[in-house]
Amino acid sequence: MAESKITPKVIPGELAVQGVSKSYGAIHFRKEVVHDCSFTIERAKLTVMVGPSGCGKSTLIRLLAGFEQPSAGTVTLDGAPITGPDRDRLVLFQETALFPWMTTWDNILYGPRARGQLTKEALEFGEFLLVKVGLQDFRDKYPGQLSGGMQRRAELARAMINNPKVMILDEPFRGLDAMTKELMWEYYSRLYEENRRTNFFVTTDIDEAVFLADRVLVMSNIPTQVRAVIDVDLPRPRKLSDLVESDRANDIKKQALSILHAEAMRSFSRGSKAAADFVEAYLKRASRA
Ligand SMILES: Nc1ncnc2c1ncn2[C@@H]1O[C@H](COP(=O)(O)OP(=O)(O)OP(=O)(O)O)[C@@H](O)[C@H]1O
Ligand SMILES: [Mg+2]
Repeated sequence: MAESKITPKVIPGELAVQGVSKSYGAIHFRKEVVHDCSFTIERAKLTVMVGPSGCGKSTLIRLLAGFEQPSAGTVTLDGAPITGPDRDRLVLFQETALFPWMTTWDNILYGPRARGQLTKEALEFGEFLLVKVGLQDFRDKYPGQLSGGMQRRAELARAMINNPKVMILDEPFRGLDAMTKELMWEYYSRLYEENRRTNFFVTTDIDEAVFLADRVLVMSNIPTQVRAVIDVDLPRPRKLSDLVESDRANDIKKQALSILHAEAMRSFSRGSKAAADFVEAYLKRASRA
């Protein structure tokens, strides 16, 4: 029973970001983080956004989740504007959200129980997920008794049991050691392959992006925009060795890296210009003094 695939009752959603800009701060100190940005998170696909640290990825996630509103443009789910947070768009953050006083099993069941929907179907789905994330032997353990990787797996199950129309993940494996991270890619991609929901996954790690994605969005530096959309047409299930051995995987990685490198150079040259302007202005002032 636990091994059987659960037929999803929920129809996966499609998110669209259209001409979105987002700025913070009062008028004279305004900082634009997202600039005229457009992309689609396609239905039943795994879209990975890869971009430089600090470019505005989490800001986009807050807009998609409905925690914040854009300064311009629209964010829609299946054509309807997003006006606030809702259970149909579930966000998994990097920080742990497990309740330390609950066992793995109770953490996984938290959502359905809190909604008073602990049905036979929910329990079956919980069992299925528990096995899929490899925690059946840790069912009665508390988060403090789990390793970092196990905690992340428990969280994946805890999120997925809620059957959101879109799963949004903000660098969920950041901070894990390389081996644990690769194990997480395997667990997570198998779960995705068996459920085929709409997933939006944000990362700074190109290997992670190429291993997981159906589509990769390569982002510019701040204020962020989409620089390229790359279809990752590698067969599934994927193996870690594909990342090294497949020519196609390497081509995709090179393509994404060259864009990110150009972005880094651009911001570096902007940085040096700012530094040069500052020195020049300082010298002028010093010579007047
Ligand atoms: N509420 C806010 N007020 C002011 N500035 C903000 C706010 N939120 C984000 N920023 C600024 O927006 C920029 C982008 O932040 P964001 O967290 O979206 O980047 P990120 O791409 O997720 O970075 P990382 O890869 O490090 O997680 C940062 O320079 C940050 O200072
Ligand atoms: Mg972030």
